[in-house]
Amino acid sequence: MRFTASPVVELPVSGAVLTFEQDNDSFEVGTSVWPSSLVLVKFVERCIRDPALPFADVLRFPGTRAVELGSGCGPAGLGLSRLGLTDLVLTDIAAVLPALRRNLRRNRVHLARAPRLAQLHWNCPAHLATLATPRRFDLVVAADVVYVQESVPHLIAAMDALADAERGVVLLGYQIRSPEAHQVFWETVPAVFPVIEKVAREHLDPEYAYEESDVFILRRSPRQ
Ligand SMILES: C[S@@+](CC[C@H](N)C(=O)[O-])C[C@H]1O[C@@H](n2cnc3c(N)ncnc32)[C@H](O)[C@@H]1O
Repeated sequence: MRFTASPVVELPVSGAVLTFEQDNDSFEVGTSVWPSSLVLVKFVERCIRDPALPFADVLRFPGTRAVELGSGCGPAGLGLSRLGLTDLVLTDIAAVLPALRRNLRRNRVHLARAPRLAQLHWNCPAHLATLATPRRFDLVVAADVVYVQESVPHLIAAMDALADAERGVVLLGYQIRSPEAHQVFWETVPAVFPVIEKVAREHLDPEYAYEESDVFILRRSPRQ
């Protein structure tokens, strides 16, 4: 791996600067940092600072049991961990876990509690069953994971398998990477998470409101 030859990405979160080493020469997309993860973390930080903004219910972290899908180098998960999401499992395919582990170690000093790392291939029932035991998650986080059309049904099935059957919520950083994957995702996901809210642009952090990146909150039923 050639992490040292690739630029390090910095993300200021809650008074610390998290840093993410990448390996831009790798064939794995997960060894680079993708922008919607940064947009997502800075949106959450802004909501925590200003409780008048919407979605306070999702972003009330104490007691929240969370998992991230496709963590890559870990910008979204480690950023949220810095913001207080301490009961968190970061996941990815086996080939990307070394990059994730390396970045967890690099940023550990800024985290109250280290997230757990786990291998998860979205279409592996054994991985899903292990993660969902003893109970499913309150919050499923994912950033920039919709880009291969064939993987989309597995991604949605994994979100469904991991999110609590009643109150499970998905926090999604999103950018259109493939028109085909985009179409299949938004045609299919309402069957599982029928309540879909897109965060208004004015609620994103203005310094991290890239034109093409959005944040969505997906729910199984309308909030109370
Ligand atoms: C575009 S990268 C985004 C990485 C990270 N979330 C970020 O925003 O920087 C997509 C991630 O999804 C993971 N991924 C893709 N297909 C997957 C699958 N079938 N099962 C599990 N993870 C997968 C990749 O390994 C990669 O880490």
